Amino acid sequence: MKILVTGGTGYIGSHTVVELQNKGYDVIIADNLSNSHIDVVDSIEKITGKRPEFIKLDFSETENTYKFFESNKDIAAIIHFAAYKAVGESVEKPLKYYRNNLFSLINILNCMKEFNIRNIVFSSSCTVYGQPDKLPVSENSPIKEAFSPYGNTKQIAEEIIRDTTISTKNINSIALRYFNPIGAHETALIGELPLGVPNNLMPFITQTAIGKREFLRVFGNDYNTPDGTCIRDYIHVVDLAQAHCIAVDRMLNNKGKSNFEIFNLGTGKGYSVLEVIKSFEKVSGVKLKYKIVERRPGDVEKVWANADYANNELGWKAKKSLDEMTLSAWNWEKAYNKKNNL
Ligand code: UFG
Repeated sequence: MKILVTGGTGYIGSHTVVELQNKGYDVIIADNLSNSHIDVVDSIEKITGKRPEFIKLDFSETENTYKFFESNKDIAAIIHFAAYKAVGESVEKPLKYYRNNLFSLINILNCMKEFNIRNIVFSSSCTVYGQPDKLPVSENSPIKEAFSPYGNTKQIAEEIIRDTTISTKNINSIALRYFNPIGAHETALIGELPLGVPNNLMPFITQTAIGKREFLRVFGNDYNTPDGTCIRDYIHVVDLAQAHCIAVDRMLNNKGKSNFEIFNLGTGKGYSVLEVIKSFEKVSGVKLKYKIVERRPGDVEKVWANADYANNELGWKAKKSLDEMTLSAWNWEKAYNKKNNL
């Protein structure tokens, strides 16, 4: 059974390809390598003993997308990760984000209709909830106005998919709303590899600890939370990857309750920035240099998931603890630096 993973050399994509191959699926990765490296394919092969097919492709290019699907008519399901994801950049370059994230989705959906491909898992985000009025946040909580063009692309993409599944009854879709994925594969062969200065907390912590960054800036300690720093629902990337396999299996076996379903993927537990730092210091034995600075514009104060629906309906539950997440991220950072003589 062949699964197309767009953005399959990226952070969440690569971990998902590993889990799919471990489950016996044949995977074809299509990625334009704009924010990932081709070496990831070698690492996936090392971990699983099987080399996924790879094609360099940008799905926002209509003609090339059609050509690709024309010669790959045997795809049973698509997992669509390929998208730009830097919140700050999206504010500066909104059209780049709308163009890339939405054209690629529209091209893929058109090809699904054209070539009779029935199933798509969409990579969405808890960003669609903004700062929820009630915590934990469940799937039927109201969608708030997006904080950034990036967040808006996720909201609009979900609407595009919903409308397509209404008009085209034989297309099934599952949108997975991720909370904050961190950590890396236990082999430390794949992990999060941000280009340039990381925006996200975990890679900034590990890069500071290894000496690549001088200190971590903690954005604000005057929030209405127990220690004053923001709270997020951090989830191990391998737990997240496994949920994608279950979603694919659900669609292939027609187990869905409707042809457009939405699931929160989180642990259900929130941790503050200082708690993440403490966990990291404990598992690594490194004292992290950090300074409390001004709040970062656009940050929500606190958000964590009600993951009951995914737990009950998918039979999936995030298993890994915060310490396992921070340790695996640290092991990956060390292994990556060693391999590249950094
Ligand atoms: N933080 C710091 N210092 C840093 C980086 C982050 O203190 O250098 C703090 C942030 O203020 C926030 C927390 O760490 O409180 C997590 O920040 P991240 O940037 O790691 O994650 P966000 O919650 O801001 O964003 C993530 C994804 C987005 C997604 C969003 C959904 O990066 O793609 O979750 O809420 F849209």
